Amino acid sequence: MDEKFKKFKLAVAQFGQEQLLDAYNMLEKTQDKEEFLKESLTIDYNQVKTLYEESKKTQGSTEAKIEPINYIDKSKMTKEEYAEYESIGVQEIKAGKLAVVTMAGGQGTRLGHSGPKGTFDLGLESHKSIFEILTDTLKEEREKYGIDIPWYIMTSEENNAESEKFFKENNYFGYPAKSIKFFKQGKLPMLSKQGKILIDEKGHIKQAADGHGGVFHSLLKGGMIEDMKKKNIEWIFVGGVDNVLVKPVDPILIGLSIKKKVLIAGKSIVKANPQEKVGVFCKRNGRPSVIEYSEIKPEMAEELDQNGELKYGESHILCNLFNIKAIEKISNEYLPYHIAVKKAKYTDGSGNVVMPEEPNAYKFEAFLFDAFENIDDMIVMRVKREDEFAPVKNATGTDSPETARELYKEFHLKIK
Ligand code: UTP
Repeated sequence: MDEKFKKFKLAVAQFGQEQLLDAYNMLEKTQDKEEFLKESLTIDYNQVKTLYEESKKTQGSTEAKIEPINYIDKSKMTKEEYAEYESIGVQEIKAGKLAVVTMAGGQGTRLGHSGPKGTFDLGLESHKSIFEILTDTLKEEREKYGIDIPWYIMTSEENNAESEKFFKENNYFGYPAKSIKFFKQGKLPMLSKQGKILIDEKGHIKQAADGHGGVFHSLLKGGMIEDMKKKNIEWIFVGGVDNVLVKPVDPILIGLSIKKKVLIAGKSIVKANPQEKVGVFCKRNGRPSVIEYSEIKPEMAEELDQNGELKYGESHILCNLFNIKAIEKISNEYLPYHIAVKKAKYTDGSGNVVMPEEPNAYKFEAFLFDAFENIDDMIVMRVKREDEFAPVKNATGTDSPETARELYKEFHLKIK
């Protein structure tokens, strides 16, 4: 304890985070103090300092050369091409080379559901939760290919216990429990605008999930990459938890990637209109990337190609396929952190809990698509919105349970 305390005191003094010492002193129970100390020593204070310094700089490189990216339209493939990709892909799936990663570590603030987003009841007659809907899809594929597809679910520190419990209580919705593995994503301290690490309402260090880009490092740290390698996994589909039409097992995408010899492939859907608030695939300084809606200039968003289609019209829907080699490489590399200013409850120096009226805290998040720039080329495959994209983001309006429910019902009526 003494050694740990000495280390802690030294670190906070060196990095100007003495408010942590005050917070520690305010705790009464020995166990709380011990936990605080333990957590404080997991923090990389140097990284916190760098992140804060970065927050003072303007984000995004204005000098980056942005160009449209080539894509392949799944619906326009010739019969021969389709059959060839399918045959290659099916072979891989049947050989047990595919795994699925679902990223369920987000906070789901816009939806406003109190539990993990996956536990949300979509409002179908069956009252299935999002987790059950995703499991249904994997169960269908299991039957189709006669193989258990390993499923890795990324949770966060806050929602891990509840997510795991939900699956367990529901008997994993009939999917083999041995094929499901949960792993937690990383977290980073939230900072005040002055760069001080905040204390949460319970007197602990305030930390938040490090963004969906944290998935690569968390897969590595959680031993999941090792597990995948033991299972001879070659391809990993990585998707979000909140798309109830996600198609994680897609032989065409796998076959296409193998045929074109790429290590990463992403699915896109056509942007509904130039103003739609979605990121689109592009080339950035010659490398595959995604340009966010906040980053793209209006005139660029409206540019048309020779076919009258948007030049930047391939929306990124967080449905990507990675070769294990790409996952390994990225998991060992640095992804930049993006800074968001959030309203965050905290405990002040006098021990009072403050709920600020205005955004007061810096949150740092890595974005999955920043990883694309780590490789020379990737395939973008355009799929149909109505077949593969029904997101649950907002409580009402666009991309809400209501719109997702309708899309889900329409799709399932169509394939009956
Ligand atoms: P979003 O960016 O839509 O965030 O995540 P969110 O947390 O679900 O919702 P809001 O913005 O708070 O309303 C897209 C996907 O990435 C996952 C989410 O769970 C979702 O599946 N994600 C996001 C993580 O797994 N970890 C994160 O840190 C952030």
